[in-house]
This record gives sequence, C-alpha cells and structure tokens, in this order.
Amino acid sequence: MSKQFDVIVIGGGPGGYIAAIRAAQLGFNTACIDEWKNGKGGPAPGGTCTNVGCIPSKALLQSSEHFEHANKHFAEHGITASDVKMDVAKMLARKDGVVKQNNDGILYLFKKNKVSFFHGRGSFVKAAEGGYEIKVAGAAEETLVGKHIIVATGSNARQLPGVPFDEETVLSNDGALRVGAVPKKLALIGSGVIGLEMGSVWRRLGADVTILEGLPTFLGAVDEQIAKEAKKAFDKQGLKVELGVKVGEVAKTNAGVTIDYTDAKGEAKKLEADKLIVSIGRVPNTIGLNAEAVGLKLDDRGAIVVDDECKTSLPNVWAVGDVVRGPMLAHKAEEEGVAVAERIAGQHGHVNFNTIPWVIYTSPEIAWVGRTEQQLKADGVKYKAGTFPFLANGRARALGDTTGMVKFLADATTDEILGVHIVGPMASELISEAVVAMEFKASAEDIARICHAHPSLSEATKEAALAVDKRTLNF
Ligand code: FAD
Ligand code: NAI
Repeated sequence: MSKQFDVIVIGGGPGGYIAAIRAAQLGFNTACIDEWKNGKGGPAPGGTCTNVGCIPSKALLQSSEHFEHANKHFAEHGITASDVKMDVAKMLARKDGVVKQNNDGILYLFKKNKVSFFHGRGSFVKAAEGGYEIKVAGAAEETLVGKHIIVATGSNARQLPGVPFDEETVLSNDGALRVGAVPKKLALIGSGVIGLEMGSVWRRLGADVTILEGLPTFLGAVDEQIAKEAKKAFDKQGLKVELGVKVGEVAKTNAGVTIDYTDAKGEAKKLEADKLIVSIGRVPNTIGLNAEAVGLKLDDRGAIVVDDECKTSLPNVWAVGDVVRGPMLAHKAEEEGVAVAERIAGQHGHVNFNTIPWVIYTSPEIAWVGRTEQQLKADGVKYKAGTFPFLANGRARALGDTTGMVKFLADATTDEILGVHIVGPMASELISEAVVAMEFKASAEDIARICHAHPSLSEATKEAALAVDKRTLNF
C-alpha cells in the first residue's frame, strides 16, 4: 500500500529541506527523501552544503584563520604565542561535530514541522492516479505517491576528463575537507570559489599551494577592481595562482601526483604535489532519479529544464537548486524551495535573481551583489562609481585588518544602486545591507544618509555610498 502525500521532495539539501518545511508550514502533508549517509550509515540531511560544502568549509576556514592569527598576528597585540601547533585530527573532528549539529538540526526541524522523512534514494516509477509514484530505496523500501513532486537532487564535483577522484590523492570537495595531515605541496586545478577557499585553508596550515587556472583573468565574474585587490592580497600571502594554463596529463606517482601543463606563455611545465584538488565546477545530479520513466526533460548539461518559476516539463513536478539553471548557491536553492512551496499553495512565490549575493570566504573576504563595472559598460549603462578603502575605517584599523574596499555603482541619472562590491574584513556580513538596499531600489544617497554605528566596518559602506557623490567624510 503506497503512502499518499500532497508534496514529496526528493533531496534534503538546502533547496529540498527548506522546500519541505515551507510546504508543511503551508498545511501540505509533506515528505522529504534524502539518501546522504553519515559515517555510521544513518541519515545526514543537509546535502552538499551541510555535509561537504558550505558548513564544513567554513569550519575549516575558521580553524585555519585562528592558526594563522596565532602565528602571524597575535604578536602585534602584544600576545606571545610560541610553539603554536595545529592538531589536524582535532580540527577535522570539530568540523565533523559542526556538520552533525546541522544534520541533527534538520531532523529536529522535520519533526517540528511534521515533515515525514525517508532515508534512501528516491526515484520516479510512473505517473499514477493522484500524482506520481516514487520509490524509496534505502534501509526500508517504500512506495509513495505525491500530488506535487519537488526535485532538489543537487550537484556533484566535475571530474577532469580521464582523472577520476580517488579522494586520497585526487580530491573533490569531499576529500579536500578531510585531508588527514597538512600536505607539503598541494596543487589545485581551478581558481574559482572552492579553489580559493580550500587553497586558503591548507596554505594557512603550512602547505605550499599552487592553483592552476585555465582562464587568463583572475575571478572573471568579479568586479575587476575588486578581483585585482584580492589577487594582490593572495599574492602577499603566498597563495600562488597561475592563470591561462592548459592542463595536460595528470599522473599519480608513489609520492603523490604530477600535473603536466602549458603556461600562459606556451611553455611546457610540470607541477609535483602530494595531493591534487580538482575544483573546476559542478555538474547537476540526476543519478538514480529515473527521470526517463516519466519523461522529465533534462538539458545537454544534465540539468532539469525549468522555467522562471521552477516548473519542469511535467505538470506538478518542480525542480530547485543546483540541479537547475542559475548560480549554484545554497541561498539561491533555499529561495527557490520557498517560492515553489508557495506557488503550490497558490501564492506568488518570488526569487529576485538580480539581488542574489555572492561571497567568497577567503581572507580578505569577497562579496558582491548586482552588476560589476565591466557588465555595466558592456550593457551601455551610464553609471557613477564610489569607493572607500578599509584603510580609512577606524574599526578596520582597530581590528588590524585594513585590506580592501567597498565599491558602489549607481545609475548616473537616478542614483539607483546597481551593484555593490566588497573585498575586505567581514564582507560576507556587510553585503546584506547592499542586498536590502537593492531590493528596496534604494539610491546611493539613501545609504549615504542613513546613520551607521561608529566605529563599525559598515561605515565603509556608508562612505562608499557618499563617494558616489564625491563627498566622503573620512577619506
Ligand atoms: P545539495 O545540497 O547537493 O543537496 C542535494 C541532496 O539530494 C543531497 O543530500 C543528495 O544526497 C540528495 N539526493 C540526490 N539524489 C537523490 C535521490 N535520487 N534520492 C534521494 N536523495 C537524493 N554555497 C553557498 O551559498 N555558500 C557557501 O559558502 C558554499 N560553500 C560551498 C563549499 C563547497 C566545498 C561546495 C562543494 C559547495 C558550496 N556551496 C556554497 C554550494 C552549495 O553547497 C550548493 O549550492 C547547495 O548545497 C545546493 O543545494 P541543493 O539543495 O540544490 O543540493
Ligand atoms: P567555479 O565555477 O567557482 O570555478 C571553477 C574554476 O575552474 C573556474 O575559474 C574555471 O575557469 C576553472 N576551470 C574549469 N576547467 C578548468 C580546467 N580544465 N583547467 C583549469 N581551470 C579550469 O567552481 P568551483 O570552485 O568548483 O565551485 C563550484 C560551485 O560551488 C561554485 O560555482 C559555487 O556556485 C559553489 N561554491 C560556492 C561557495 C560560496 O558561495 N562561498 C564556496 C564554494 C563553492
């Protein structure tokens, strides 16, 4: 006898578990199926984000930043910390604990919101009376029928062709988050978000890190001025990034791995390393979903085809998060999950793709929302720019972290904020003000006239907004 639900969510990452909670809040009898297993084979909902993504990477970034501070910056404060050591096993155990707290938190939220959770792989069987039949293959086999199905099966790391991940020497994000000892030499391919975050973790802990990047520009999607400033800081830290390379043969050796590549000048080179992290993007995951059984349409990248409202090619089947088009970000997946649940309820769920913030959690942090200066030029938009350096911000000086700046881009005629770009301390938190401002269609002058606490990093935001009108007060 199959169990009948109003809404069945396949995938319990940020897109799926949030969609399930919202659907249950709206009064739907809701199930969520997720197959992720913890070390003991038990359920570990939260997806890539919680298990091998956002959360564990931020835990390691925090630990490694403490280590770097103790080694390099405590002395400036008059603190003597000699013989500072990193116990990698303890750092990883702490990270695992943080992950578990999040897994448990989601299971608690399912109970609280009366979401029925099924641990196992969900796959389409057929269109059935009253919706779609979904099989759960896990500890127990179940057959469910859902009137509405939300697919939120996420993404997997992209492999280099012919170089499979073994998670010992050639690592995806998964292996990169559980390296048991600091490698002497670490190579990464791809200097995108994962390359820079993971490269930073292991560099801070003492690895000699080289990142090989195929594109000739550093962080091409980031505002050029901000990317340049960030690159300067990474160069100073000793995080080596080689741009414009063409990766050739990757071979495992007794000692680790060798990577043949051609550099930007066309010269043949070889990089030797103990470990290699491949961080060249991610691919949508529909493995085991049996999409073909119901004729669910995928594009040539393997992503589920959806419209602006996350409707798929099938009636009452929706898809959200990394498995569909758009940026692969946890908060984008969550917003889509909420919007879909609300649309099922006949409400007007909405995701504003123009105000999705991006953050790279390196030091300095990089965060932005809206369009870059190069995009505005390409779009032929007349704009004014204003920047303010953290060097001139009292709180940044007190923190001892004055790298970077806040940059505002506003429409030349209306002064509406079109983009805000930050490189510097706590950029991840500062960007929220810009997101709110853009959602409310604020002008740069609106931010410039708002009282910001002193001393705070957010004063740099106010000053950058003042700079749009060339009237900074502290610079
Ligand atoms: P996922 O989180 O991938 O979840 C999908 C879930 O579905 C998984 O649990 C999977 O096991 C399950 N599943 C798949 N198929 C089935 C099936 N057939 N049956 C049952 N279950 C199934 N984003 C940010 O916004 N901020 C960050 O700081 C950040 N850091 C990251 C760091 C790293 C190292 C990585 C790899 C990613 C990071 N991301 C970050 C991206 C973020 O993790 C993803 O955008 C986000 O997890 C996508 O959510 P999702 O729900 O679409 O998919
Ligand atoms: P990415 O798209 O950010 O970067 C991949 C990089 O690899 C690009 O610079 C690309 O030019 C380069 N590349 C691709 N193929 C290559 C090749 N063959 N040789 C050399 N370079 C090559 O992808 P990444 O870092 O793997 O992360 C995947 C996604 O996960 C991100 O796009 C982001 O959506 C998400 N993520 C978000 C984080 C955050 O929000 N802080 C943190 C980590 C990941």
